Amino acid sequence: MSASREEFGSRLGFILAAAGSAVGIGNLVGFPVGAAKNGGGAFLLMYALFVFLICLPVMLAEMSVGRHAGKDPLGAYTKLSGGAWQWKIAGWLSIITPFMIAVFYLVITVWIFGYLVESTLGNLDELANPETFGTFIQGQSVFYYMVAVLAIVYLILQGGVKDGIEKAAKLLMPSLFVMLLVLVGFVLTRDNALAGVEYYLVPDFSKIDASVVNGALSQAFFSLSLGMGIMITYGSYINKRADIPGSAKLVALTDTLVAFVAGLMILPAIFSFNPNIDPSELSESSISMIFSFLPKIFLALQASLGYFGASAVASVFFLLVFFAAITSIVSIFEVPVAALMDEKGVSRKSALGLLGLLLVVFAVCCALSFGMVSFFTEFTSYAGATKSFFDIVYDVFYDTILPLNGLLICLFVIYRWKKHNFNAELDQGAPKYKGSLFERYVDISVGTFIPVILAVIFVNTVAVKYFGVSLFAS
Ligand code: PFF
Repeated sequence: MSASREEFGSRLGFILAAAGSAVGIGNLVGFPVGAAKNGGGAFLLMYALFVFLICLPVMLAEMSVGRHAGKDPLGAYTKLSGGAWQWKIAGWLSIITPFMIAVFYLVITVWIFGYLVESTLGNLDELANPETFGTFIQGQSVFYYMVAVLAIVYLILQGGVKDGIEKAAKLLMPSLFVMLLVLVGFVLTRDNALAGVEYYLVPDFSKIDASVVNGALSQAFFSLSLGMGIMITYGSYINKRADIPGSAKLVALTDTLVAFVAGLMILPAIFSFNPNIDPSELSESSISMIFSFLPKIFLALQASLGYFGASAVASVFFLLVFFAAITSIVSIFEVPVAALMDEKGVSRKSALGLLGLLLVVFAVCCALSFGMVSFFTEFTSYAGATKSFFDIVYDVFYDTILPLNGLLICLFVIYRWKKHNFNAELDQGAPKYKGSLFERYVDISVGTFIPVILAVIFVNTVAVKYFGVSLFAS
């Protein structure tokens, strides 16, 4: 007989852990820049609608499958489909995808940790030098920082669900909220900050075209950690008395609020540094924003705060991003760990050790693909571009397979597991959900237009990424 399954100790603990997964680099940097460049308030409005009308029902589908099956994603698909091989493939995708995303997210988290250490040690001037990032990611120190980050992830996960994941979330998430608010308060008092707020919030509907809509939906989907098996796995750790719809709404709200508030930090900071900036020139990539652009802004603060003050602000920022990244990486690595424990009956420590080793191997290949080893740097090419090992992991798992996994869980819930089972699971612990208008909406949307939309996104991504053609002319 297997021992009873681990559980979150409290509703708040579960909400913080799920929000910890959802709040990540995407919220703190990706969303603000995306919103500012693509119509400000208009983007925001559309994003919020997507979160609540499209992503929230998918989150409910994932959590309910997880709780009902009481298993990892592979086990859940297998159990609820009666072992059908087609659904086993969906199960496998739901554990391979998070593992591979963990690989590249680890590399980025390691860089953030490195920048945190360097700015705390007083090397902000170095970090602000445009050459630094390029040399940093090719240097040996990345491997030392990787050991440190892995040790932190290991420490949290070996504690298990309640004493590891939940405890860490209860500590890190409130600290993250406080740091974010402190930074926003600080940035808003800078000269010219309001120009940034204006740029961020004033709606410009003329910027909204099909590719912006596609981008907003993908960003919302990714931001809620969907399609990664995370919400299935975390769902399997909630008890039967818990209110899933209520908790999921709070997770979605927290995630959206953090993304929104992060914009009140990033845009005003950019505008106060450079009042004449044309934000359409801002890089789309969160990576160059975090590691090249923002350090320059922090260093410029020394004119008013002195070098020590500027370094302190930079360190708080990197700590904030680091906390966001750690809670996300913990959630995503828990998926294959849970799968190995459930499917093969191995202990948590052995699963962590084995998968940790594998993670290191892949992450090192990724880290080497920034110029250190040409085999990994020029791994392959498609759609007219040379791709590194890191690019492949990103393109295939992050960009392409996520919407496919979302599509599969919707189809699974309604057409295989069946609507009445889905509803019965969500009704448990949520008496107000039962018979509500929201329940009817979720029912209908998960079985109809949400999978259609996800299918279109999936096909478009394949067309753009691998064949260089878009279904939506932009
Ligand atoms: N919601 C996360 C973010 O916005 O950054 C997405 C995520 C990415 C979760 C990577 C977990 C993860 F490992």
